Amino acid sequence: MAISVPEILAAYDHTAPLSEASTIPAPWYVDARIADLENQTVFSKTWQMVGRVDQVEKTGQFVTANVAGEPIVVVRGNDGMLRGFYNVCRHHAAAVMTEPCGQASILHCPYHGWNYGLDGSLKGMPEFEGVKNFKREENGLVPLKAETWEKFVFVNLDPASVPLAEFLGGLVKRVAPLGVSKLHYFDSRTYDIACNWKVFIDNYLDGGYHVPHLHKGLNSVLDYKQYTIENEDRFCLQSSPMVASDEDTATGATRKGDRAWYFWQYPNLMINCYEGYMDTNLVLPIDVDHCRVIFDFYFADVSDGRRAYNEQSVAVGARVQDEDLGICEAVQRGLKSRAYGAGRLSARREAGEHLFHRLLAGDLKAGVQRAKVAAD
Ligand code: FES
Ligand SMILES: [Fe+2]
Repeated sequence: MAISVPEILAAYDHTAPLSEASTIPAPWYVDARIADLENQTVFSKTWQMVGRVDQVEKTGQFVTANVAGEPIVVVRGNDGMLRGFYNVCRHHAAAVMTEPCGQASILHCPYHGWNYGLDGSLKGMPEFEGVKNFKREENGLVPLKAETWEKFVFVNLDPASVPLAEFLGGLVKRVAPLGVSKLHYFDSRTYDIACNWKVFIDNYLDGGYHVPHLHKGLNSVLDYKQYTIENEDRFCLQSSPMVASDEDTATGATRKGDRAWYFWQYPNLMINCYEGYMDTNLVLPIDVDHCRVIFDFYFADVSDGRRAYNEQSVAVGARVQDEDLGICEAVQRGLKSRAYGAGRLSARREAGEHLFHRLLAGDLKAGVQRAKVAAD
């Protein structure tokens, strides 16, 4: 008989200190039931980034996204309020807004033409005369929580969730001095990777362990021995002093400043900062074996005169990403091997992964417990 989900979860000891800890076991990365459980207990309950504040500054501007399998839309109202809704028409469930982002005066469903106001209220339904016991005021778009922090728009599907600032905790204070709200969005890159989303996060959170081996260019600008790893609340900050490099001119020219700052916020958002530079990485599970990673690049100066430099900087990021991609796919294949169960962690380097695995285990185990209580 196949091993049960509670058995899979019990195979990870979240109480072990870092020096004795193992990674979460291989089935967590390859069993579709764990991916389903993550959708219910992690992605449906945590704050998820869905767009940028600059996309929803003006009245009627909106962004759409998919969170834990749910279509959602966030829109700026006539009253200046930012509101989130399930992007699901109350008539026959079509997606009301079909573009990734845009601006509209009314939310118009393309299927049978129902119209909703920017506040989600149902305004009009063609050819609905004679329909009895239908209350228009009860058929607005279903709301969900939406908030912003720095340059980013977040939603949370859980009506009982804590506010965004409380969820982010100490991250708010640590990011504030970097002045990222003064940066400007430049461009995005999307990567579809044949690995579980957690493989990509693990790779990010190994405290620079893989950098000297896999990223020779990046390694040339980091003082690897001085790399620090701090865990707090639901985030990990990995940071390194920068050194001048003549080994790799493109990296040296585009990765500047005294320090590199690499923030990871549970579960799936990374924010990377150098002087005058930020990129965010949003890791979205597609299925148990695939994820999509969206990179958004921001710069202090996005004027035309700076375009070539900014493009070179994005290209440096893309090269690092390509180096990571092949390894992540190899790891996913290895996780399915009968030769692998779980691995040990470097106490010097891999504290971030340890935090990630413990937070995840906490959410998954609590979710199974809640389901059990509900069933009993
Ligand atoms: S599904 Fe939207 S109008 Fe029919
Ligand atoms: Fe990497």
